[in-house]
Amino acid sequence: MAKDQKLPSLKVAIAGLGTVGVGVIKILENNKDMIAARTGRVIEIVAVSASNRKRDRGIDISKYDWSDNALDFTNRDDVDVIVELIGGSDGIAKELAKQSLTKGKSFVTANKALIAHYGTELAQIAEDKKTAMRFEASVAGGIPIIKSIGQGLAANKINRLYGILNGTTNYMLTQMEATGKDYEDILEEVKLLGYLESDPALDLDGIDAGHKLAILSSVAFGVKTDFANVYMEGIRRIKLVDIEYANELGYRIKLLGIASITEDGLTQRVHPCLVPLSNPIARVDNGFNAVVVYGDFIERTFFEGRGAGEGPTASSVVADIIDVARDHTTPAFFIPVNEMKTTNPVSISDRFGPYYIRLHVEEKPGVIADITAALRDENVSLRIMLQKGSEQDGSVYIIMVTHEAYEKKVMNALDRINGLASVIDKALAIRIENL
Ligand code: HSE
Repeated sequence: MAKDQKLPSLKVAIAGLGTVGVGVIKILENNKDMIAARTGRVIEIVAVSASNRKRDRGIDISKYDWSDNALDFTNRDDVDVIVELIGGSDGIAKELAKQSLTKGKSFVTANKALIAHYGTELAQIAEDKKTAMRFEASVAGGIPIIKSIGQGLAANKINRLYGILNGTTNYMLTQMEATGKDYEDILEEVKLLGYLESDPALDLDGIDAGHKLAILSSVAFGVKTDFANVYMEGIRRIKLVDIEYANELGYRIKLLGIASITEDGLTQRVHPCLVPLSNPIARVDNGFNAVVVYGDFIERTFFEGRGAGEGPTASSVVADIIDVARDHTTPAFFIPVNEMKTTNPVSISDRFGPYYIRLHVEEKPGVIADITAALRDENVSLRIMLQKGSEQDGSVYIIMVTHEAYEKKVMNALDRINGLASVIDKALAIRIENL
């Protein structure tokens, strides 16, 4: 008798056979014996589903039952775990999640949009049905950040975290600096490389990072998932000139997700930041993600790894299947839903800190006087001001760094500055985070 036949099996059905789905099959096949030894179960793929059966995926899927409709999995007695790798917050993915959990199947997903929007609701169904929901691969690809926070750091009160949560935009910012090319050129390159989500706005406008931040907030702070109150701003307005000036000032531009919980409530924001070159997160380049977590007994931990791709993401999906094989009972957010808090969102306009401001203006007398008057009237104090000659068209970039100021005051001043006749391009403010 083969060794694995002595072990009980855990039967898995996979919905979605894109890059990650194929990676999951490869890991479960290649590391089958090792996983059986680690879990005491044989993880067996019994069925798969995807939109196109015939596509060449480089693996043999003919040995698994095929289903045109992934919802069929939920009616099969021989399926214990349904793995959703379809994507999208609504539609089939949401229906599959609900039906799987309602019918008592364990549910594993890499779907960040689904969990950001409906995480608490789905976790409640899982609890009611005494089954498991796991979503490690939804945040930061191959970094096991959800298990690290929910299990490894479970002894700590966590009240702050931040990270690079989107690999595509991190790649773009890295490549702008490395090649000296501007945003539009690098955008064309990532389109050709296939790095963008099918809706590029998810990457470029910080929405994908926002989904991931909302999930991390829930896991770390024990709050109900509140994606609706994540402030999101992407990288579309970052120019090469900003990257170059930031460097000169001792900073690198990174798209960060920042979350904290205080007596005032829950802060969740995604936006480009100037981070000091001395901070390790400034050196997290290309497709890598990183997350920094602060706990009351660990002080700070830093996690770095690949944020996407077949191997890293599938590694996290399979870790969840292994988790289910070992234990069904841990709540999805590591705390029962009725213990999760509902919190007051803190508005971005309450942020207090320094700002980098880039102005593109006509070069003529009195322009600086008008600009500084607007800042003075909002009580925003300047620390640095740079102007280096003119562009070929006679216009000029003015770079300013403020002392700490309230966001609403800075934005009021910029609204007034944007109304000046000499302003060519709307002012850009980037928050400086001296993390
Ligand atoms: N678009 C995502 C990223 C993929 O670039 O990080 C991984 O979630």
